[in-house]
Amino acid sequence: MTLPRLSFLGTGYLGATYAICFAELGYEVLGVDVDDVKIATLASGRVPFHEPGLDDLLRRNLAAGRLRFSTSYEEAAEFADVHFICVGTPQRADGMSADLTYVESAVTNLAPLLRRRALIVGKSTVPVGTATWVEQLVAKLIDPALGVEVAWSPEFLQEGYAVEDVLRPNRIVAGIRSEWANELFRAAHKGVFDLAATEDRDVPLVVTDFATAELVKVAANAFLATKISFINAMAEVCEVAGADVTQLARAIGYDPRIGNRFLQAGLGFGGGCLPKDIRAFQARAQELGAGEAVRFLHEVDLINTRRRGRVLQMAAELLERPSGPAGPNLSGTTVAVLGAAFKPNSDDVRDAPSLAAAAALAAAGAQVRVYDPQAMENARRAQPHLTYAPTLDAAVADVALVVVATEWAEFRNADPVLLGGLVAARRIIDGRNCLDPAQWSRAGWTYRGMGRPPA
Ligand code: UDX
Repeated sequence: MTLPRLSFLGTGYLGATYAICFAELGYEVLGVDVDDVKIATLASGRVPFHEPGLDDLLRRNLAAGRLRFSTSYEEAAEFADVHFICVGTPQRADGMSADLTYVESAVTNLAPLLRRRALIVGKSTVPVGTATWVEQLVAKLIDPALGVEVAWSPEFLQEGYAVEDVLRPNRIVAGIRSEWANELFRAAHKGVFDLAATEDRDVPLVVTDFATAELVKVAANAFLATKISFINAMAEVCEVAGADVTQLARAIGYDPRIGNRFLQAGLGFGGGCLPKDIRAFQARAQELGAGEAVRFLHEVDLINTRRRGRVLQMAAELLERPSGPAGPNLSGTTVAVLGAAFKPNSDDVRDAPSLAAAAALAAAGAQVRVYDPQAMENARRAQPHLTYAPTLDAAVADVALVVVATEWAEFRNADPVLLGGLVAARRIIDGRNCLDPAQWSRAGWTYRGMGRPPA
């Protein structure tokens, strides 16, 4: 079988990464988006977001002629055998559920233009039941004689590792209805399986029904979110008991049933996926009459949000500003917040705990100065009222308190003696438990970690 031609509908973070990586695997690829600025940027060889390694792959595959970008759904319909839906499914403005507008418009734009048999593969994270709804939509829009089919294959990209996650996934999951769709889906992923074979690895393919495939994604994210909130709940207990959550995490993580990944206590999870996905999951489970089964996710969300407020409380304690009825009053103080991205190696500030903590400090009256190695532009757009410093040194100059909110290498490797010479007072809150408390206190800093005894 010759390799099928692939289109990726929606060239945001997910679609652009997949389009570029699948071209790298040898496929002929078309990336499609309604946003002509995004398409022009990608076509000119620039990735509109920060993702290590992706720029080089984009330029190489544009030059090789395997990868093109377009705003035309006509072109996509004519070009591709397999169409991947990669559009966003944000949280709805009027509640916790997912907004499926973009999925609907991708399908209604594409389907009537199809003139031959093709497979439409959903990759967007959606509430269970969406794939069946898309299938019904397709049936309404296309002559059934054409034999167009739908499949659903969730993605598990982590920002910062997205290229590896696409080229070398730890599994591929697909909701597939027919042998024809199964064969075409496998052909559309042959590059991934072949690469694994040359490296003596195996990529398990889990083929399921639609509902299971859709649930796999939200279940995986619910589990990861729960793991993070679990350790953050332990951090709360450690704080009052005088214990150290980093040692606790290390000790329980040696048990292979628990594992040591995703047990980093700190400011909690943010980003474009975990927070919105656990909320959408609760909303959908409720609709299906299984709300009780995932009620714990509400608690997971609450624990997560509490961590952001804890920074404000700690700041007030360190700055010796007792709380009034309206919370702490930090007016007259200057605080440096190091980190705006929701995690290191990313410029994404969506639901970033770092910016939320910075905004809370500012709302309490502190003059907040933010610095991030990559996310400054996005942060400025999201929180225009905060002050931004161009460098780490400029951010900490003469401040009364430093808060590390994202564990960038630049902050982890910062020299406490040098920084100590720049600040007005040596006080630091390590919101990611990424510093060595002993090293910082030796350099004269008052150190506070999350769920760690004061050093
Ligand atoms: C996540 C999932 O990992 C990925 O599989 C899914 O496809 C999309 O959502 P991502 O949003 O890129 O990926 O970030 P991830 O690395 O999972 O981190 C999410 C958040 O959790 C970050 O804010 C991070 O700082 C926080 N986190 C992670 C912790 O607070 N502690 C940890 O131990 C791990």
